[in-house]
Amino acid sequence: MITQQTIDKVFDVARVEEVIGEFVQLKKAGSNFKGLSPFTDEKTPSFVVSPVKQIWKDFSTGKGGNSVSFLMEHEHYTYPEAIKWLAKKYNIEIEETEQSDEQKQQLNERESMFLVSKFAKDYFHELLMNSQTGRAIGLSYFKERGFREDIIEKFDLGYCKDEWDNFTNAALAKGYDLKYLKETGLTIVKEGGAQDKKFDRFKGRVMFPIHSMSGRILGFGGRILTNDKKAAKYLNSPESDIYHKSKILYGLYHAKKEIAKLDNCFLVEGYTDVISFHQSGVENVVASSGTALTPDQIRLINRLTKNITVLFDGDAAGIRASIRGIDLILEQGLNVRVVSFPEGEDPDSFAKSHSSAELKQYLEEKAQDFIEFKVSMLMEDAQNDPVKKAGLIRDIVTSISKIPDGIQREVYVQECARIMDISEQVLFSELAQLLQRSGAGGSSKGSLSRPTRSGASDEAASPKGKGMEVLRARGKGKQVHNIDQVSILEKEIIRILLLYGNEIVEFVNWVDSHDKYGKPILEKEEYQNTVFNELYLNLQEDEIEFSNEIFRLTYHALVNQLNQREKIVIDELIMHENTEVSGLVTNILMDEERYILSNWEKKEVHITGIEKLLPKLVTDAILNLRRVLIDKKIKGVMEDIRNEVMEVDLEEINNYNALRTLLSEKLNRVV
Ligand code: CTP
Ligand code: MN
Repeated sequence: MITQQTIDKVFDVARVEEVIGEFVQLKKAGSNFKGLSPFTDEKTPSFVVSPVKQIWKDFSTGKGGNSVSFLMEHEHYTYPEAIKWLAKKYNIEIEETEQSDEQKQQLNERESMFLVSKFAKDYFHELLMNSQTGRAIGLSYFKERGFREDIIEKFDLGYCKDEWDNFTNAALAKGYDLKYLKETGLTIVKEGGAQDKKFDRFKGRVMFPIHSMSGRILGFGGRILTNDKKAAKYLNSPESDIYHKSKILYGLYHAKKEIAKLDNCFLVEGYTDVISFHQSGVENVVASSGTALTPDQIRLINRLTKNITVLFDGDAAGIRASIRGIDLILEQGLNVRVVSFPEGEDPDSFAKSHSSAELKQYLEEKAQDFIEFKVSMLMEDAQNDPVKKAGLIRDIVTSISKIPDGIQREVYVQECARIMDISEQVLFSELAQLLQRSGAGGSSKGSLSRPTRSGASDEAASPKGKGMEVLRARGKGKQVHNIDQVSILEKEIIRILLLYGNEIVEFVNWVDSHDKYGKPILEKEEYQNTVFNELYLNLQEDEIEFSNEIFRLTYHALVNQLNQREKIVIDELIMHENTEVSGLVTNILMDEERYILSNWEKKEVHITGIEKLLPKLVTDAILNLRRVLIDKKIKGVMEDIRNEVMEVDLEEINNYNALRTLLSEKLNRVV
């Protein structure tokens, strides 16, 4: 672990404009710098760097953050990798927290395995390109398959001589330890006799090195050159401390930039599919290496994009087998599309027999939403067989139930009902059953809390049960609107806290009171408070938890500061270790910056004294959030009554309605 002191030092010294300047051409624009977005192919610059605030924002993609998050976004580094990169750039010595001897040893072992793997990659590649046998056997094999030399270079392809221990001897002669040759599986040691025998695992094969996301060599795939049916076509490195098959995607290192840029990842089966696609100019592609995708692999893709397009070889049996695994991708919240290739073709052969433009066009035109694809394919099987069709409904609904997002689920239900020509209601109730069973949708059964004097309880704002609510709401548009409204209001509160949290303001409050006849009235009360305290106390009083996770994390970080120092320290949030939090903070700050700039430039007007508007801004934000939450609550109660989940409780409904009226009244008075 890198020490906090080192991290602080790095943040202290690093200049965001210098760091980004290494990747993007920046031009001075007022107090900021501007450049072309490195994440899109834009022609007019919308990428802004603020040296004053030490943050950046890409207005074309909405991304933003500090220098560390830029490196994470642009170079796809992990947090420690980004810190190390900066430390190197600014000559800062990295202090790591004390490691136990065991930890050190383990780290050293892995390091040694990486080193010997890198040596092997270089050795095999050198042989392929520059030795007589390598060229005659390995290189001519690749050339015969139509691989261009620049692509062979790009993927570091290699060749291992068809001798027993050519590579092992070379490695030993260079001083590499046999222990690590064995552990990486590059060398197989057969014990017995007077002396152990050593063999090259990959003897006589062409080599496909497998890179980690940051480009280190984790292992190899070796392809046999003959059509020997008895020998395996591919041999792969065995599982080891550095090679975990289930966590590896072939080609990820070479694809990561394009995947992020195009916001889509093609998934193929084989090494050669990946390489052929690159040769055809399609670079956002990775291979699962012939097995079903694992959750870890999906997470790797998820770091770069939410969209995955699975490419199927053109044989029906294969497709049916692979379809099952895809529910797993849906479960992780990714959007899945599929493209299938013509009978007998795989991505590699298709890319080879078509031009680059044809390939791209094919991928674009044939891409089909996964669930629709599954429905239409299974529908063919079930055509006039009602029993099969019933099974099919369950199958499809199972896929849909894996999708975490309620709104998306609903869209799919509608779409599938259309394709399958059955009523949405049938699908909805099947889905409701499934969700209930899996515990994902269990909504407000008997758990409604009584309204308190001041507003809704946290339950109204919690995301659980959202799915069922969406399912029940027939008017979809409204529901979507409602969910967004909560997020908008939550973001507004964060924005106010960040920009004006430390300001001291005169607040007006309307307190519940009674006139002399006992009739309830609102009485005016004036007091001073910091914006921060005002918001915090009100939200706390209502036990409101933000429903959006990032807003909630950010809010908690802010509350932490309040508790520790009684003020907001923006810089600390910009450096927050959670990049989504620091991203949100910089986004809000930068949006403000842009707003001020554009107004300034356009109209030369001075921004009206915000102090005058602040009390209203704060009060409105709180009241609006309360009102929306109560609206949701009322709606939920009504729905439950309609669905006979709950008995009519007039008192409860009246309480909510009274509360709502009160809030509207307050809102109107402040206006
Ligand atoms: N695979 C493997 N071991 C095998 C066969 C296949 O590990 N015996 C993995 C490899 O990662 C391979 C992928 O499964 O890339 C897909 O297999 P296949 O389509 O048979 O190979 P291709 O990559 O298409 O290779 P080629 O074009 O040379 O046949
Ligand atoms: Mn293949």
